[in-house]
Amino acid sequence: MEVKFDVVINFYKHFILRRKKERLRRTTPSLHQPLPSSTPGHFSCEMGELVTEKHVRYILSVEKRKDNFESVVMEHLRMNGAYWGLTALDLLGKLDTVDVDEVVSWMLSCQHELGGFAGNVGHDPHILYTLSAVQVLALFDKLDAIDVDKVTNYIVSLQNEDGSFSGDMWGEVDTRFSYIAICCLSILHRLDKINVEKAVKYIISCKNMDGGFGCTPGGESHAGQIFCCVGALALTGSLDLVDKDLLGWWLCERQVKSGGLNGRPEKLPDVCYSWWVLSSLIMIDRVHWISKEKLIKFILDCQDTENGGISDRPDDAVDVFHTYFGVAGLSLLEYPGLKPIDPAYALPVDVVNRIFFTK
Ligand code: FPP
Ligand code: ZN
Repeated sequence: MEVKFDVVINFYKHFILRRKKERLRRTTPSLHQPLPSSTPGHFSCEMGELVTEKHVRYILSVEKRKDNFESVVMEHLRMNGAYWGLTALDLLGKLDTVDVDEVVSWMLSCQHELGGFAGNVGHDPHILYTLSAVQVLALFDKLDAIDVDKVTNYIVSLQNEDGSFSGDMWGEVDTRFSYIAICCLSILHRLDKINVEKAVKYIISCKNMDGGFGCTPGGESHAGQIFCCVGALALTGSLDLVDKDLLGWWLCERQVKSGGLNGRPEKLPDVCYSWWVLSSLIMIDRVHWISKEKLIKFILDCQDTENGGISDRPDDAVDVFHTYFGVAGLSLLEYPGLKPIDPAYALPVDVVNRIFFTK
């Protein structure tokens, strides 16, 4: 059977236009406008409610337990766990339940002589844990507890000739590390110590035809990497290099029927992508292209309403990682009672303001 090329193209155009119209119909108010009602009751009658106290208790209990499965697998990345748990507590308004001196002194004992931080005492330093340490110190307003130049030198030493960043001395390169270096140095007011122009050029070399970004040039678009690349471009004032409509289209296609977001086409929705996708959409000003109400419902459905904690999908086991990204996602969605979070720094807005406007 002969199929005319222009008939196929017209059919395809018609199909895309219809999808666009459907999307516009479900367009929700922009992030900067309040949701229909901003009282917790509005959410509770239709979709359950955030069980704040239980999540606080869950986060604090994970820190105390040393013998369960989650604590054992978390051992080598305890520094990340500290960032997820403590930032979640701050967003929930409960950071004052933590012994600041104890946390800060443990963090400092994780710093290596090269300046970078490890995931736990006695482990090797990595740029990933270095950002978590810097973020937690910023949360507590304790950045003066570290030798900023030493940390800066460690990060500067990880930039490669092509502008990319390695994660540690072993050399793995990934756009995650570009974001981490830029975010960390920005918090420390030392962005001028790296070659920003080359760093941006490398990130742009990881941009794909679909508007997304991968871990290295030619790598498949992935919402986690997109957060890193868009975040790094936002922090360096380079968002004009992003095709916002094309990327916004790819990102809003991540919302599935249940209201949850996935990280790539054909994947299951996952609460952590409420952060990776949503923060990216906000940074490129396209968050009104997804249904905020449906996403709120999906995140609330992933709570363990008895024992606290949030899982990747409804009825799965909870963990601190998804608890943090669930709460952070709800914060981006302006869920009542939560502190607002900055989509590029992944820190509460008041912490970011303190870093840049009070010193
Ligand atoms: C998905 O990972 C997420 C990413 C690839 C992005 C990770 C970003 C960082 C570590 C930078 C620091 C982040 C913050 C918020 C400060 P995955 O392994 O879960 O992916 P999968 O769903 O494909 O398994
Ligand atoms: Zn996840």
